[in-house]
Amino acid sequence: MIFGNWDAGAESLDEFLGDLRWYLDVMIERQIGGIEFIPGMQRYSLNANWKIASENFAGDTYHLIYSHGSMFRLDIRQINPANPNFRGKEREYYNIGLDNGHGLTGVVFGGERYEVDRELARTYGPEVVEYVEECHQRLIRALPSNQAGMYAPSFSNMFPNLSFNDFSALRPIGFYLWIPKGPCRLEAWNWCGVDRDAPQVIKDEARVDFTRIQSVSGIAAQDDTENFEQVTEATRGVVGQRLDFNYQMNVGQDLLKGPPGCPGRFSPYISETNQLNFYRHWVELMDSPWSGRSHGRRRAAASR
Ligand SMILES: [Fe+2]
Repeated sequence: MIFGNWDAGAESLDEFLGDLRWYLDVMIERQIGGIEFIPGMQRYSLNANWKIASENFAGDTYHLIYSHGSMFRLDIRQINPANPNFRGKEREYYNIGLDNGHGLTGVVFGGERYEVDRELARTYGPEVVEYVEECHQRLIRALPSNQAGMYAPSFSNMFPNLSFNDFSALRPIGFYLWIPKGPCRLEAWNWCGVDRDAPQVIKDEARVDFTRIQSVSGIAAQDDTENFEQVTEATRGVVGQRLDFNYQMNVGQDLLKGPPGCPGRFSPYISETNQLNFYRHWVELMDSPWSGRSHGRRRAAASR
């Protein structure tokens, strides 16, 4: 994956990512052979505004048990995620809001995701157990203990429109680009990432899991796109045009104290703090005066 910018005066990638890099480093460092993409990038169109998809990955973990409840009751997940463990752990799984509108949700520290992986790996045999342990050891060697203990950063959105999910060394890493095609039209681009050096059985299962769950043919993506389209459609009616969205859930409470040394603003995963973080940054950019020159100068003007 290559990041580029047509504006020679734009901030550097490091500046733009800020603390998001601290979290993405875990996803990238855990891969023994680096991330490899399964051939066949998917594209599909939907009648939705791109921001609804971005904010979903930035902060909406609370939709899981409602929108995807039927999926969790089916025996179709070849590799079970730690997601159902969210229940009853509202103060252990975090939303983490970052500068520049980036956000992560469903993040847990202290090795919980690693323990889930180890248990799951046993069902595949010694080669997969060894693989999971090696992934963990790579993180311990490369990163401070709190960072390594996160193991996988869960859901995240790189502002404005590139989302990821990564729960496990035994599951696919999803990359999702939400490309605006108009106020109510969106094109989704999906890629399925795997560790190049993962055991073949895990690479095969990750491909099937992605196809069944979060790809265009997958049950979760179809649940989500139905939400994205219906939320967008609801804004087009007479009443919808008069009312604002309500993003108050658990907003206004004191922020949580995250683990020492972990960057960002921590709140319970059942909250809309990250959605507000996303939209505040978007509004800041949209409302700032356009100088006709570089984005960097425009941002500087907005912060004055
Ligand atoms: Fe979803």
